[in-house]
Amino acid sequence: MSVGKILGIFFISAFLLVQLIPYERSNPKSDPSQEIDAPPEIMAIFKRSCYDCHSNETRWPWYSAVAPAKWFVVRDVNIGRRWLNFSEWNSYDEKRKAKLKEMIFIAVGLAMPLGTYVKAHPEAALSEEEKDAIREWTGIKVEEIMNRPKRHLY
Ligand code: HEC
Repeated sequence: MSVGKILGIFFISAFLLVQLIPYERSNPKSDPSQEIDAPPEIMAIFKRSCYDCHSNETRWPWYSAVAPAKWFVVRDVNIGRRWLNFSEWNSYDEKRKAKLKEMIFIAVGLAMPLGTYVKAHPEAALSEEEKDAIREWTGIKVEEIMNRPKRHLY
């Protein structure tokens, strides 16, 4: 057998084997009354740009069924849900909601939705108007954020 064939068999076997590593994609059941209740235009933005990683209603793309892509997608969703899960928003206490609104205010101007996600889902990118609409929804004033002793980027 040629080296090429042996390598080919090796890689195909390795690819098939890693598919067996258990790494669950899940959409946990949640009580609909716990879902965030925002005005329809804000809900539409969250659903389009954030829900895949920050809710229990992830639309799993086909490549998320295949390792190794699966590991990265599942990891982002698990971490994303741990930070902020719009499907469980009403179970958070007021302090956590306030803190999260502040983080959302900042995140839409910086890191969210994740850049790698936007590459695969260009429709998830937020326009400047949508960022402003979300910031307004948080009820936080720009000056409040900017005048913190520890300055955040806008
Ligand atoms: C592709 C998955 C993905 C999408 C889509 C996404 N997020 Fe995230 N989000 C994450 C991950 C992963 C983290 C954890 C922080 C980190 O490690 O970067 C996070 C963290 C956060 C945090 C808290 C911590 C921080 O970094 O600010 C907020 C707030 C947030 N996201 C808001 C949003 C909002 C609002 C949207 C939609 C406009 C969104 N995210 C879309 C994956 C995602």
